[in-house]
Amino acid sequence: MLVIIREDFEDMSREAGRLVAERLRRKPNLILGLATGGTPLGLYGELIRLHREEGLDFSKVTTFNLDEYVGLPPEHPQSYHHFMHENLFRHLNVDARYIHIPAGMATDVEAHCEWYEEAIRRTGGIDLQVLGIGANGHIAFNEPASSLGSRTRVKTLTLQTRQDNARYFGSVEKVPRYALTMGIGTIMEARELLLLASGEGKAEAIRAAVEGPITALVPASMIQMHGRAFVIIDRAAASRLEHTQFYSRSLEEAVIQRRNTGRPSTVDS
Ligand code: PGA
Repeated sequence: MLVIIREDFEDMSREAGRLVAERLRRKPNLILGLATGGTPLGLYGELIRLHREEGLDFSKVTTFNLDEYVGLPPEHPQSYHHFMHENLFRHLNVDARYIHIPAGMATDVEAHCEWYEEAIRRTGGIDLQVLGIGANGHIAFNEPASSLGSRTRVKTLTLQTRQDNARYFGSVEKVPRYALTMGIGTIMEARELLLLASGEGKAEAIRAAVEGPITALVPASMIQMHGRAFVIIDRAAASRLEHTQFYSRSLEEAVIQRRNTGRPSTVDS
């Protein structure tokens, strides 16, 4: 894991944007895994800026979103389809045919989940998967006690997750009870992971995920098993980490540190 601690949300978002842009410049037909929620919004703003100001090209990119609420049609203002369109896709030159988001209205859910997994496989697999983390340590909608080898499926949302997301729906009763989500096994097959977290409210989840034992009770702790995981967080989200001597302030600093210790000079994790 490469843990990078930035000053604040904006700074975290810019650093994440640099990483994604670098990968995209290197591979224009990048297979990009995307996340929803408040955390990646700054990264998305940064990608939109890079597209507008520097012509960062998304025309050959294929995207796969992590999850979607069961029972919300794509046009519902709180659906993740709507979120992605409003906050990212409509501002970029992504080809609509290359966008994939689980269908919350699928009638045969099991067949749809299998199709989603197959669609990921057919593209050759996700190159870089963006992830947030829940205050309870979930990644995507893999709630605590999810199987660490799980695949795309339906999950029941915990009360904490529904309460955390009630701010978007007006009340907790309106938050759907189920979601379709990539499994932890699915996520772990991405070639690189980019986990973002900002704010005090994520500090305990980040401590447990980065420094705690690997456990299904903290699904995000599974990133410790990934060969190329980047954890870019702000100071507040890092405030409970104890082993800060192992972490860096930037991707650039990490490269220099590794060069000085005779390790390969490309950014690794
Ligand atoms: P947030 O959600 O970015 O809105 O905090 C993250 C998550 O629940 O995975």
